[in-house]
Amino acid sequence: MFRKILITGGTGQVGAALLATAPPRARLAAPSSQELDIRNPASVNHAFAKWRPDFLINAAAYTKVDRAEDEPELAFALNAEAPRHLAAACAAAKCPMLHLSTDYVFDGAKASPYVETDAPAPINTYGKSKLQGEREVASTLNAHLILRVSWVFSATGANFVKTMLGLAARDELSLVSDQRGTPTSAHSIALAVWRILGRWAKAPSYGVYHFASQPETTWHGFAAEIFAVASKLQGLKRTPRLRAVTSQGYPAAASRPLNSVLDDTRLQRAFGLSAADWRPELARIVQQLA
Ligand SMILES: NC(=O)c1ccc[n+]([C@@H]2O[C@H](COP(=O)([O-])OP(=O)(O)OC[C@H]3O[C@@H](n4cnc5c(N)ncnc54)[C@H](OP(=O)(O)O)[C@@H]3O)[C@@H](O)[C@H]2O)c1
Repeated sequence: MFRKILITGGTGQVGAALLATAPPRARLAAPSSQELDIRNPASVNHAFAKWRPDFLINAAAYTKVDRAEDEPELAFALNAEAPRHLAAACAAAKCPMLHLSTDYVFDGAKASPYVETDAPAPINTYGKSKLQGEREVASTLNAHLILRVSWVFSATGANFVKTMLGLAARDELSLVSDQRGTPTSAHSIALAVWRILGRWAKAPSYGVYHFASQPETTWHGFAAEIFAVASKLQGLKRTPRLRAVTSQGYPAAASRPLNSVLDDTRLQRAFGLSAADWRPELARIVQQLA
């Protein structure tokens, strides 16, 4: 294991899960965004001088997909320019970097799950900013691993599971049923990251990898599962009727890919991981939120 691991975004869904699941021997520094503002190169350099990390995990990002359409400068500052600052500091310190990215780098037109060699073609500002960030990292630092994840949920932060549970008293909800993806718990992402780091120390594997859970579903299917689990574990007496709508019938500021399913065979083979199932994770989190 690495001697000192610097984690950005420690208050976010994935960052908090990384801190909660870190191996006992790991020495971590997880400064707040006030202490380390990744948009500011001086702040990044100061953090590297202070903590002298020998590995960086960048879990900080701008993740508001719809709002990014109205504030693209902020999305690009955090998702594209900041990863470049971080990668430059890593290059100077000879410190490898694991950078988190997203399924939204794809346009969703492919019928089957996306593999790492598929050409990205983002269709919204968030996806464009994240793809730019991937490119900045890859061109600035050789020792990098970009881990694309999708549909992240956890007991903390803003996510679809918490939104649905907050709407449980409604009579009816309209849910998009033509966007496919794989919900993935922040906890399972964190465990995969620690596995990657454990192996990396022995055999570094650079490049882009996908991490996803099984099985694929739609937002409508995910909501149905959330309410089924909540009825069982939280004793909800009644749940909303779920009305299936198409993306066209559900206007949002940002377009979203119809297919967001990631194929993570490459990651499984390289790091000895097995396919994760998001449903037990959902049950654990719904119980936690009860
Ligand atoms: N959420 C999803 O569904 C999803 C899907 C696919 C991929 N991803 C990717 O997965 C990764 C983790 O996402 P997440 O859902 O865990 O994110 P999140 O919960 O939105 O957390 C974002 C984190 O970034 C930090 N941050 C914001 N501005 C910062 C700044 N200027 N300097 C330093 N830190 C700053 C936030 O700190 P504060 O709390 O202090 O603001 C927070 O800790 C991201 O790369 C994201 O693009 C997420």
